[in-house]
Amino acid sequence: MRRNVWTLPNGDQTLAHYAAAVRKMMDRDPDDPTSWSYQAAMHRTYVTPKKPLWNGCKHGTWFFLSWHRMYLYFFERIIRATVMDLNGPGDWALPFWGYDAGGIQAQIPPAFRDPEGGTNALFAPRGNLINQGKPLPFEIFSPAKAFARPQFVGAAEFGGGITPDDDSFWNAAGLIEREPHNAVHTHLGGLMRDPHTAAQDPIFWLHHANIDRLWFEWSSRPGHENPTDPPWIRQKYSFFDADGTKKPLTGSDIVDIAGQLGYTYESNVPIPVPPPPLPPSLVPEMSMSNPQGPEPTRPERRELIGSSQRPVRLLGRAESVDVPIDERTMESLGRGLGAMAAEAQRRVYLSVENIEGDKSPDTVYGIYVNLPVGASDELAESHRVGNLSFFGIELAEDPRGTEHPHGLRVLVEITPLVRWLEAENAWDDRTVRVTFLPLGFTAPEGEDDPPVQIGRVSLGYT
Ligand code: C2O
Repeated sequence: MRRNVWTLPNGDQTLAHYAAAVRKMMDRDPDDPTSWSYQAAMHRTYVTPKKPLWNGCKHGTWFFLSWHRMYLYFFERIIRATVMDLNGPGDWALPFWGYDAGGIQAQIPPAFRDPEGGTNALFAPRGNLINQGKPLPFEIFSPAKAFARPQFVGAAEFGGGITPDDDSFWNAAGLIEREPHNAVHTHLGGLMRDPHTAAQDPIFWLHHANIDRLWFEWSSRPGHENPTDPPWIRQKYSFFDADGTKKPLTGSDIVDIAGQLGYTYESNVPIPVPPPPLPPSLVPEMSMSNPQGPEPTRPERRELIGSSQRPVRLLGRAESVDVPIDERTMESLGRGLGAMAAEAQRRVYLSVENIEGDKSPDTVYGIYVNLPVGASDELAESHRVGNLSFFGIELAEDPRGTEHPHGLRVLVEITPLVRWLEAENAWDDRTVRVTFLPLGFTAPEGEDDPPVQIGRVSLGYT
């Protein structure tokens, strides 16, 4: 039973056993696949030469959730075996950090905050006053946008778009990967900010237990289905078990956590109620089940209808850019985009592209569309269409497979907002203003963040 770290009973030893096992793993030979550094390097590392199964993490792809579920499963077995070696209980399980419940649970648990003179194995340096107990902002911890997506497969859907299985860091992240997953990584800063070091922070594993729990919760809801496409269910990845032997798992081995993997989640954390799904009369997202296998080079059917005329530089403060809508494309549509979205004839997407920077800042930005000047927090939240965070930006320029390197990309559907603005007579078919606001922290003048550049912001429809 994976339990909520914030509601463990008084005197509970789950975290004390975890800390002791982490310390023991840190003491192991770094060539031992059950050592702390080896396990973290299986996610990703700057260390060379590469050892077996290193740099395996899957991001920006529909394999994100499955790979991390497998990774956590074997890591938990290694910790449990180590806990037992130290005379601890044989039913030890990873707790989860259920920040999405808000309130005090949006703070990192106290056991992770204090170095205790170097004796606390759960401590790591982190940014944004996290170790001082500053709570994660709502916009960063909320999975509500992900839970509003009824489908797993697709770059703007819950679980991510179809990609090949090789290497990592594609540009088809699902909503749950972006919010809260990536946003929490970036906001925690320190080791967590960079995929090459993230799994060295002991909170990584509780963060991922929560992401895995959110997947479990989402897939338990009526109408929600995990992929059944052969390329997903047959995809095999290998890991090291507690005895150091290599073990493979496939997608079809891990969809039933209780039946196949032997664990469940304590369910005492409220999951936000998602907004109502879009009416079924809308054109469905195209990347549905495809029995022939993935076609990663297949062009997207989204039609471009406008794009920004200049790059945007982000330095830790608010920035805006206008996206003019192309008049001729509008004419050929015959009707206003706002009107067509309102009548459920079109879906509208916003794409933030060619995001580049040498180093990830600790800042997560909210992406706002047509944000009114002086908007209250509540009004602003209804104009927020997604987040921009930079987990993996260091890898964005790496070539992957047959795809050209092109920086990070974030794709969000904005149909519900367009429809609402149209109803309020606040939608303009000539231009859209996109604003990036730092969440929780703004860089003071003269203390810029490491710069990040956005090449293009564009608007498209299906
Ligand atoms: Cu592969 Cu949270 O990272």
